[in-house]
Amino acid sequence: MNTSTCTCAFVGTASLLVLLSLAWGYGVAAGADSPAPAAVVDGTGKIHVPSDYRMIYQFLGSWAVAGKQGRGSNAIHTVYASPGVVAGYQRDGRFPEGSVLVKEVFDAATEDMTTGTVSRSETLKGWFVMVRDSSNSHPDNKLWGDGWGWAWFDAGDSRNTTSTDYKVDCQSCHLPAKASDWIYVKGYPALAK
Ligand code: HEC
Repeated sequence: MNTSTCTCAFVGTASLLVLLSLAWGYGVAAGADSPAPAAVVDGTGKIHVPSDYRMIYQFLGSWAVAGKQGRGSNAIHTVYASPGVVAGYQRDGRFPEGSVLVKEVFDAATEDMTTGTVSRSETLKGWFVMVRDSSNSHPDNKLWGDGWGWAWFDAGDSRNTTSTDYKVDCQSCHLPAKASDWIYVKGYPALAK
């Protein structure tokens, strides 16, 4: 649709609203330094996977989980951050309020290529999502606490988490990263100054 030649006021207004809500949802209206979690969290603290993270988020880093036997990796994890997170972290040394982190989990395939024995992301298993919330604004929701919202999503359903309690589902595994706000920052070259 070419809005400059559209004479229909309703369509013009509607598309403006869509543009505004898109801008707000991705933190663009608030400035790139303050990522808004509106696009991934509703008022009750229900989290979902941001739909356009591969286009709009910044790549932080990736992890290759070695296979217990054989060659190459069993899994590859790819981590993205919402707009403004990298700049905010570089400036303040901590994750800005509303930061959203998405970790994709892939089963890996390994084969000989011209560069050597190479593992690549093959089948998406799902996503881990974390949302920075240092004021702990959802005290009654078991997916929120210790400064973050925490959730896992199976690949088939990016809207509804299957995790129920971050203290059971997530926290003990993130204990080694407690000093860096529960995040394994050493895996993310993009956060270094
Ligand atoms: C089996 C241990 C384990 C469990 C369970 C676990 N994590 Fe993690 N998580 C890790 C490790 C280790 C990393 C970094 C290395 C990697 O991905 O292999 C990580 C990385 C992440 C990242 C990328 C940012 C970072 O911290 O580096 C997110 C986001 C994440 N986890 C969220 C979650 C959420 C949400 C849950 C619970 C629903 C959860 N994790 C459960 C071990 C775990």
